[in-house]
Amino acid sequence: STSNPLANYSTELHDDQADKVDKYLHNLQLSDKTLMDVSLRFRREMDKGLCRDTNPTAAVKMLPTFVRSTPDGTEQGQFLALDLGGSNFRVLLVKVMGNGEQKVEMESQIYDIPEHIMRGSGSEFFDHIAACLANYLDKMGMKDKKLPLGFTFSFPCQQTKLDEAVLMSWTKGFRSSGVEGQDVVSLLRKSIKKRGDFDIDIVSVVNDTVGTMMTCGFDDRHCEVGLIVGTGTNACYMEQMRNIGVLDGDEGRMCVNTEWGAFGDDGALEDLRTDIDRELDAGSFNPGKQLFEKMISGMYMGELVRLILVKMARSQLLFQGKTTSELLTTGHFNEEGIASAEKILRGLGLDPSVEDCIATRRVCQIVSTRAAHLCASSLASVLRQIRDNKKPWGLNQMCVFSRFSRRLNKMVRRLVPDCDVRFLQSQDGSGKGAAMVTAVAFRLANQNAD
Ligand code: GLC
Repeated sequence: STSNPLANYSTELHDDQADKVDKYLHNLQLSDKTLMDVSLRFRREMDKGLCRDTNPTAAVKMLPTFVRSTPDGTEQGQFLALDLGGSNFRVLLVKVMGNGEQKVEMESQIYDIPEHIMRGSGSEFFDHIAACLANYLDKMGMKDKKLPLGFTFSFPCQQTKLDEAVLMSWTKGFRSSGVEGQDVVSLLRKSIKKRGDFDIDIVSVVNDTVGTMMTCGFDDRHCEVGLIVGTGTNACYMEQMRNIGVLDGDEGRMCVNTEWGAFGDDGALEDLRTDIDRELDAGSFNPGKQLFEKMISGMYMGELVRLILVKMARSQLLFQGKTTSELLTTGHFNEEGIASAEKILRGLGLDPSVEDCIATRRVCQIVSTRAAHLCASSLASVLRQIRDNKKPWGLNQMCVFSRFSRRLNKMVRRLVPDCDVRFLQSQDGSGKGAAMVTAVAFRLANQNAD
């Protein structure tokens, strides 16, 4: 459109601005050598988390999920799923028809979690979830059926079986009180019982990464890594039981939830974190925690950009040195800014020049490229681990839900050129996947009964 100041700028002007930003943000641009080094460090962190002796002090927790098998395509039945921990809370009804054709049908509804409930007590929180579930069952006319339910709960949890998950700590801005250290399945069962208007069979609790892996696994049996880059970031993969030191038993495999968002919480990334990363962390809900996640995931990208813009303005490099109270407010630069610099800057009460808009775009590009590249580094470590577990080498396929997958993809191939990897995008993975886990658990239980 004609009102777009970016419509007719010259290449020179563009290069000048980009250069200026590149110089200013040189420490956010990581070389291949640095990324390879990050990848090696992460591999060591994985070992530390897997090993029984070092696990208690490991930053990367490598949590056993008690999911031992990916779908084989014969699963079937009707399942409920709850998806909690991303930007939306959802209730889903999933029909799995795995008679050779591998079909999944689903319906879902998004529910709001009001701010006061997010900040309130744990029992209020789970009462609300039970109320949403009741509302959904009402709507579907299914309140008198006792359906099996899979619960996607996307936070670090200590599990001892599929249907028990003790929350270790909230992440991503959730902070309902009295839930940490508690089994979230018991809390949900208690809230449902208290209502007394429906009954449900909670079969499994899974992380969203696990759900994602399972969903793609239904379509493609080789899928053995699940990756999330959303509000938070994390990955899971199928590990050999003999490598999971915190569990007894050497036979077969189990999915491990890496909780890689906490990489660096013990200081392992201090040389790469910049003053901007430190400022963002200091102003967050959980200072000192999830430091890797704070360099990568959607919840923090906009804030990183905002902090950089403020700093550049204060150094007279942008907006003729002007800032506005909106620009100075936490959370006021959201992810959309990455797509439409000018609109967002005007929305913050600024009057940006063409130069300002170009520079802002460049800032966004640098922040998101760093995120994709760091993510590629940790993913490369996971792939190496799987490759080393497997001789002869197999084909690793992964589920990816991420808007910067192209950069991620390219860098992964550069970091592990000898690993044949194929990226698949999961549709509705985190919610549907809980149903898949439940379906697999059902199939296995019936097989054992036979
Ligand atoms: C946070 C959570 C993790 C989840 C990820 C993506 O890192 O701790 O459990 O998988 O966000 O939602």
